[in-house]
Amino acid sequence: MNTEQIVRTFTEYFEERGHRRITGSTLLPSPDDPVLFTTSGMHPLTPYLEGRPHPQGRRLVNVQRCLRTTDLDEVGDTTHLTVFEMLGTWSLGDYEGPLSLDWGYGLLTEGFGIEPGLLHATVFGGDDRTGPDTDSLKLWQERGVPVELTVEDNWWSNGPVGPCGPDSEIFLWTGDGPPESTPTGDDRWVEVWNHVMMRHRRLGDGSLVPLPQRNVDTGLGLERLATVLQGGTSVFDCDVLVPWRRPLLDLWQLDDASLRLVCDHLRSALVVIGDRVHPANTGRGYVLRRLVRRVLTRLWRDDPSHSLGDLPHELIQHTLHHFRQQSDPDDLRRELLEEERRFGRLLEHGRRVLARPRFRGRLKEEDFRYLHDTHGLPRDLVQSLRPQCPV
Ligand code: SER
Repeated sequence: MNTEQIVRTFTEYFEERGHRRITGSTLLPSPDDPVLFTTSGMHPLTPYLEGRPHPQGRRLVNVQRCLRTTDLDEVGDTTHLTVFEMLGTWSLGDYEGPLSLDWGYGLLTEGFGIEPGLLHATVFGGDDRTGPDTDSLKLWQERGVPVELTVEDNWWSNGPVGPCGPDSEIFLWTGDGPPESTPTGDDRWVEVWNHVMMRHRRLGDGSLVPLPQRNVDTGLGLERLATVLQGGTSVFDCDVLVPWRRPLLDLWQLDDASLRLVCDHLRSALVVIGDRVHPANTGRGYVLRRLVRRVLTRLWRDDPSHSLGDLPHELIQHTLHHFRQQSDPDDLRRELLEEERRFGRLLEHGRRVLARPRFRGRLKEEDFRYLHDTHGLPRDLVQSLRPQCPV
């Protein structure tokens, strides 16, 4: 099943159960939202989870592109992507958690044909403020799915304040032999679907108050599910990432870890530019800048003549089409190339500055500050330009 078929199966399953499909938003949250990028499917729906009536009703389903920078350093492993898509469902004060979990179980096992014995659930075990989630526990026990109880790992919030609640996560076994151990103790259990019983709001002082309605918010990582259904061992094996691997390998002859990082960051950078973000020293533009510069650092480590100008046209087009973005592919390439030139000039300048006798030994905090404030050289760049020197 390719990702398009997965999206169709998912949305039709929930449409048959009274959900209306809503259009996903771009990566850019609304202007009054303090976060830089949309990090989960619920994000654009926050006002409706807090009680505002949604024009399409109380049962919704969609696919939402998301960007998570907290995982930037984990990219290159087999389960994390910077930009990814999340399939989501919402009950806005309509049905309760156990029904959502039961539908989730039905879709995974019957709709997607996953062997029930390969599933494991986790459930909120309770803390000093909120009792254990016995409703979810009971549902999983009735379905014969093993459950692990946790505390922090089964509490979901989008930030320090705002809607939050206990969650129940569904994991799939990806190991070779029969399932063993539990999700928190073995990363061969891969989390695919999170069901959040979003009933509380956390206030600035840390206290919890009930939301005006009892919601359910679920999110399923599309590329992770596609990987498992397609028999892959890494998200980079799924059908939306495979078209990236072969051409980039032919172009730049990268080792496995570098190839994963370059595929992820370049694809993510294109999506971000496609949502009209430009490289900058702050905010969203800085995230974009970091993505592009991390790619270039990796490429130039092997061969300084590598250039993003060689990125195949089909990859840019394929990505714009996949994310339903209207930008001109040539504009995206131009944006990448301009950033490449800026970074090339900065590196050249950085090397000249760092060759000064003053910077020969261990750098002090004031040196880093000076290099940053006077020469625009961030700490990680300085460190990458002096790999043999003490830090
Ligand atoms: N908000 C939850 C998550 O992002 C479920 O959608 O995991």
